[in-house]
Amino acid sequence: MIKILKIGGSILTDKNREAFARPDEIARVAKEVASSPLDLVLVHGAGSFGHVPAKRHGLPEKFNPRGLLETHSSVTGLNQMMVDALDKAGADPMPVHPFSCVLLKGGRIERFCVEPILEMISRCLLPVLHGDVAMDLMNGAGIVSGDQLVSHLARAMRAQVVAVGTNVDGVIFQGNPLPAVTREDLPRISESLGGSFGVDVTGGMRGKLLELLDLADFGTNSIIFNAGIKGQIESALKGEAVGTTVRRAG
Ligand SMILES: Nc1ncnc2c1ncn2[C@@H]1O[C@H](COP(=O)(O)OP(=O)(O)OP(=O)(O)O)[C@@H](O)[C@H]1O
Ligand SMILES: [Mg+2]
Repeated sequence: MIKILKIGGSILTDKNREAFARPDEIARVAKEVASSPLDLVLVHGAGSFGHVPAKRHGLPEKFNPRGLLETHSSVTGLNQMMVDALDKAGADPMPVHPFSCVLLKGGRIERFCVEPILEMISRCLLPVLHGDVAMDLMNGAGIVSGDQLVSHLARAMRAQVVAVGTNVDGVIFQGNPLPAVTREDLPRISESLGGSFGVDVTGGMRGKLLELLDLADFGTNSIIFNAGIKGQIESALKGEAVGTTVRRAG
């Protein structure tokens, strides 16, 4: 039973300050993840390591080598911190950089070499992916968000648990987190769905929900939960319905 967990860059970094990590949160998340590290793929968001340089260099609209290199180098720095913290916490993490194994077409994943990730899992390693830049068949290069990676991986690996941790209690509508969202709810809640309060080039909560609704159309439910609350990661990995469940209508 494969589980996919995303931890938002909103938890691991300060999204308003470039490349500003939160080492205490990285260590706490690592400890919580390391308590059940098997059959798990961990994806983390880029936070201010990715969104800020990407925005400064005009990515993804403007193809430019400097922007690509700076953004990729920056997010791999955050990935290294996450991997180091997981190693310290007793897991067997391995970094996986989407830039080297994902091909986009018009901003959407066209090809993704997932076999090495499956092999890692079968050898009890914990693959750790992240939001990244990637080559794009139409636009030269683009950005692949952690949220899109989760949605794609969950489909490709037929994951049974898909949990997306961020810094809010789920999809908030009229001041409260919704217990569940389906595609049919979109028109009603659309106005309250914004981007991010931080710098975010992949659509904040709106982008996240749209990725997970695609996954729900495929038949896989997921949750959006608050990974900033201690113990929630453990509950999420057990498949408990914390936060907002994104599911298929009907
Ligand atoms: N209706 C909504 N419900 C909940 N959050 C919302 C809503 N509308 C906008 N948001 C914003 O979306 C943010 C979460 O998305 P964001 O992309 O900033 O975080 P993340 O995905 O965890 O980080 P990263 O993209 O770096 O991985 C919340 O912090 C909030 O500011
Ligand atoms: Mg985001």
